[in-house]
Amino acid sequence: MNNFSGVMSCFEASFKTTPEIVVRAPGRINLLGEHTDYNEGFVLPAAIDKAVWFIFSRNNTGNVKIVSSDLNEEVELPINELQKSESSWANFLLGVIHVLQQKGFKFNSGFDVCFGGNIPLGAGLSSSAAIESGMCMGINELFNLNISRKDMALIAQKAEHEFAGVNCGIMDMYASIFGKENHLIKLDCKNISHEYLPFDFENYKIVLFNTGVKHNLGDSAYNTRRSQCEHGLALLSNYYDGLSSLRDVNLSMLESKEQEFDPEVFKRCKYVVNEAERMTLATLALENKDLVSFGALMYETHNGLKNEYEVSCPELDFLVDLVKKESGVLGARMMGGGFGGCTINIIEKSKIKEIRQRVSEKYELAYGFIPEIYEVLISEGCTVEKA
Ligand code: GLA
Repeated sequence: MNNFSGVMSCFEASFKTTPEIVVRAPGRINLLGEHTDYNEGFVLPAAIDKAVWFIFSRNNTGNVKIVSSDLNEEVELPINELQKSESSWANFLLGVIHVLQQKGFKFNSGFDVCFGGNIPLGAGLSSSAAIESGMCMGINELFNLNISRKDMALIAQKAEHEFAGVNCGIMDMYASIFGKENHLIKLDCKNISHEYLPFDFENYKIVLFNTGVKHNLGDSAYNTRRSQCEHGLALLSNYYDGLSSLRDVNLSMLESKEQEFDPEVFKRCKYVVNEAERMTLATLALENKDLVSFGALMYETHNGLKNEYEVSCPELDFLVDLVKKESGVLGARMMGGGFGGCTINIIEKSKIKEIRQRVSEKYELAYGFIPEIYEVLISEGCTVEKA
């Protein structure tokens, strides 16, 4: 774990050269709309005050040299003959260079880059998307590539598909790049555009409880969910014209064809269709500043993720069930891809201290250790500066 000055010291010690570009790429939370991004639905993420910092400098050699200040490891490769690395962390960064090259960008010099940060790994806060997004932003600035922010999000996503093997949606990169202080990003994953919704409730805070169970999206379960959605869509397309994704499906269309479905695929599709409906209600609740209704929808989403999409785990369910009994908690659910990571909770500020205490005690009793707890602030997305 590092902060900006730690990364800067590491850069200076590793490269003994002058830094040119500094990038800050934050992690993300997601309030609602889970597993809907790759179904062309809406999501409600935000960037947070935990980030990865990058420091870049061109090196006038043919090599790219990457140092991870958190792991104290480095990888060096000829920039024009990139290959996947045995260091899995390096592939997130190399993947970005690879995708840029696929798109026809040429590099007339190699470069040095040192990176590190304080986004907990495997906690569902999208440290990998932050790394890919930050890398892309830094290279864009270093070589004046003039790539738009939206295209950078798409490049970062492609890097994850091709070099990390996860068929993820666009949400995580987009949130890291487009985050805005005290706002949620209502992202339309069909035409990849967004609007900002204010999320600034004086008496409430967003708190994350980390199960400590490391989720691993490379785990084929994520990719399986995605292909189950595609199967469901293909089946429905036999009966309905012009479906481009599950976004175009409503519950009665789905239920009228239930007999045709494999029961598991049916459950997955039902979750996605219901989550889309919850997104509509959640947006309305936010517009009305009705955080109570919003919180109730979060609990419903958790049930769907647990019972229909089946991406939760006992530790996540335990943490959600625990806070349900707390009067100061408006809503809670598992967040992100699932199978571990954090729950996201909206908690009344005055109650946070006592709730943290109770959750810690009960989780320790059940699982033998005190969970990490993060009170997060909604912050700006990626920033790039000349050093
Ligand atoms: C992971 C993926 C995202 C999204 C979420 C689930 O974070 O990277 O694209 O699908 O899971 O909502």
